[in-house]
Amino acid sequence: MVSKRLLAVVLACLAAATNASAAEWAVPAVDALPMDAFGRTVRAGRDLIVHTVETIGPDARDPAKRYSGNGLECQSCHLDAGTKKFGLPLAGVWGVFPMFIAREDEVRTLAERINGCMERSMNGRPLPVDGPEMKAMLTYIRFVSSGVPTGRSAEGRSVPVLPLPTVASDPSHGAQVFAANCAACHQPDGQGLRWSAADAAKQGHRYQFPPLWGPDSYNDGAGMARPITAANFIHANMPLGTTFEHPALSVQDAFDVAVFIDSQKRPHRQGLENDFPDRALKPVDATYPPLLGPFPSSQHLTGPWGPIQQWMKDNAHSLRTELPATHG
Ligand code: HEC
Ligand code: HEC
Repeated sequence: MVSKRLLAVVLACLAAATNASAAEWAVPAVDALPMDAFGRTVRAGRDLIVHTVETIGPDARDPAKRYSGNGLECQSCHLDAGTKKFGLPLAGVWGVFPMFIAREDEVRTLAERINGCMERSMNGRPLPVDGPEMKAMLTYIRFVSSGVPTGRSAEGRSVPVLPLPTVASDPSHGAQVFAANCAACHQPDGQGLRWSAADAAKQGHRYQFPPLWGPDSYNDGAGMARPITAANFIHANMPLGTTFEHPALSVQDAFDVAVFIDSQKRPHRQGLENDFPDRALKPVDATYPPLLGPFPSSQHLTGPWGPIQQWMKDNAHSLRTELPATHG
């Protein structure tokens, strides 16, 4: 039997560990590395994360190297070159891959996970897994993950998970939140602020502020195209400079603006009906078919998501047995 006292000690230790790891978010300095083969490869990987469009994207000089397909850098979402706590960090993820990924219903390597973002967030095609670009990205991620033990997920990974609103989010109120808090940078039409050709070459970026929708943004199969993921990201990180400790928007405003953004037109990825082949693991905010449960499609976009979650829990067994026999 666990005594109350022991339980209290355990809880105190857990709290202390959480505080310690919060203080320990320290990413090693890339620029302190010597200019040897390893240091050069780490720097090359960082360059690809920060200057994706001009190195392996639509503005790459060599057309054969144009793998990514939009105006975003990896850094547009993986903030500060993937080193920002709760800003979708790449720092700290080296030791958690290979891991199970529900979208493909299989264990995926870090290279495969990167290519997931290449095909969706970057609306492009996969990088060759054994090519110099993938090698450089992996080396960078391995280096910036140095402080995190293999197998442990860093506290500060991904984005903080917000409580789900119990009512439907309101995209028309989201439009007002957007106009007041986002349009100054991302522009009233959401298409971002593009540098002139001369400035783009100087800056190494196509955009000063990246597009949130439209042809040069992430496609409808991206994680950011799901409003819960977008709301979590926005609440902890936007407007630019916001941190998870000091969010600028209320939780409901973050959901409203996320739903507004994810209702806009963006590139379409073919074959999304094949995502999450184990339907019991399909996120409730995935707005593409097959839509699960007796809910209108608008509810997958706006919520409330609680009833969908409950329905999926109640029906997990039958959802699972719908798997095709050839699956895997
Ligand atoms: C439009 C936003 C966006 C862009 C651009 C983007 N990603 Fe992602 N990425 C995400 C989201 C959202 C996730 C999911 C995080 C989660 O699962 O919690 C993710 C996950 C990842 C992960 C796994 C992280 C983890 O914690 O498991 C890696 C690695 C990754 N991305 C690499 C890249 C690379 C490399 C690029 C550029 C080629 C890129 N991403 C571009 C949004 C983006
Ligand atoms: C001060 C300028 C600024 C403001 C205001 C701002 N952002 Fe951003 N946002 C950026 C920049 C810059 C990036 C890319 C990060 C980078 O390059 O460092 C970004 C990235 C993003 C991304 C991921 C990349 C993409 O293009 O999809 C989303 C989503 C986003 N912002 C949403 C919002 C929302 C919603 C608001 C309002 C609540 C907002 N932002 C306010 C500057 C801003």
